[in-house]
Amino acid sequence: MDKMVIEGGFPLVGEVSISGSKNASLPIIVSSIMFDEFDCEIENVPDLEDIKTIKKLLISLGAVIKKSDAADKLVINTSGINNFDAPYDLVKTMRASVLVLGPLIAKYKRARVSLPGGCAIGARPIDFHLNALKQLGATVKVDHGYVEVFADKLKGAVINFPIPSVTGTENVIMAAVLAEGTTIIKNAAREPEIDDMIIALNNGGADIKRIEPSVISVRGVKKLSRLCHRVLPDRIEAGTFMVASAITKGDIVLKNLNVHHLKSVIDKLSEAGVKIIINSSNSIRVKGSKTIKSVDISTAPYPDFPTDMQAQIMSLMTLSGGLCVITENVFENRFMHVAELIRLGANIKVRNNFAIVKGVKKLSGAEVMATDLRASASLVLAGLASSDGLTTVSRIYHLDRGYERMEKKLTALGAIISRVKANDISPVTDEEPKFGDVVCSKTA
Ligand code: UD1
Repeated sequence: MDKMVIEGGFPLVGEVSISGSKNASLPIIVSSIMFDEFDCEIENVPDLEDIKTIKKLLISLGAVIKKSDAADKLVINTSGINNFDAPYDLVKTMRASVLVLGPLIAKYKRARVSLPGGCAIGARPIDFHLNALKQLGATVKVDHGYVEVFADKLKGAVINFPIPSVTGTENVIMAAVLAEGTTIIKNAAREPEIDDMIIALNNGGADIKRIEPSVISVRGVKKLSRLCHRVLPDRIEAGTFMVASAITKGDIVLKNLNVHHLKSVIDKLSEAGVKIIINSSNSIRVKGSKTIKSVDISTAPYPDFPTDMQAQIMSLMTLSGGLCVITENVFENRFMHVAELIRLGANIKVRNNFAIVKGVKKLSGAEVMATDLRASASLVLAGLASSDGLTTVSRIYHLDRGYERMEKKLTALGAIISRVKANDISPVTDEEPKFGDVVCSKTA
């Protein structure tokens, strides 16, 4: 298991290019199941562990991933799909594997998917997905830890989500695309990743409209034609690098992002005194200020402040000049990073679903453990700001699920950060060491 070793206290300066969105790539990749006539071409797909998992899942169903002419392009042929099971081994490593339910039931009228179970940030049931599929006419059985869904045909229905669910909305859209009649999804999630999937499906012959901000209509079509799409930029990766600039009092230009998708993050960082200069709709400059003002933050579905940025902004607030309250409204157990931030010197108290953060003068390096994807990012950020001693973040496989080459991007901005093998101080490099090379870590 790799660890990240960070020598913090240096401002990050330079330019960073934001990769394609993980959370948009996943549903778009699985939607290829419904396009079996031609090869599907998806560009700007980030090189992440979660993407490797979804590719493995598609291959296990019978799809073929072809060689492509670009590293960030996926070419998938789904004409050979002959298996409809998503096994426990894959679903347990990535809950978003449940996204195969929608396209499999739409195209093949059957799917069997391992129940994902709880995860580090909460129980995360899939009852909304299953209830909606039942309303579309599917039979749903849960047995031996698997959910089995089958139908003779699916018929449009009115689905009303109790609360907005991102993958729930995506699963229902995909299930309804080839159904008879029209499906209306009320209280649908509004995340841009859903709209990116809608664009991809509509370009391939679907008829999906967001008729109100939280209402989506899906008019069933007989068949889909061709999936050919470029994935939108990852707003959470962008937000994380914005905080990296703010927390290190740096000056970073972020390129290849969509500024419109980052409004809530931009607003909060500006309130905290961070200088944000919007160069264009896809480029932004973030300049950290000497002092960070404390600001209250409350997470909620898009367009409000994203739960996926809560841990990172908390790292920033640990160094603020006052006291703030960070309220987590989306997941019930998303404060696992707090205990680790306290190890770095932060002053945080958790009460139910809110954390009271009192700014401290400095953070100090320590050994910490990542518990989930965004928690790992918050620890790396805190490590970059720790002005004395090394920070070692273990279990960074969580980080690799959702950040493409993070330490390389940070190194290019001047960070002193290396990936090392556990129980070893040798850095992990892409190159084989040559005979005579002195193998040592920058941080050793
Ligand atoms: C997606 C994102 C994840 C993000 C989250 C919230 C992907 C692959 N993942 O996760 O990064 O943190 O949105 O923005 O896009 N709920 C139920 N029953 C259900 C479904 C959801 O009770 O059937 C609850 C959840 O427990 C949670 C809330 O609804 O409290 C919202 O979760 P949801 O939007 O579904 O999260 P995901 O789609 O799993």
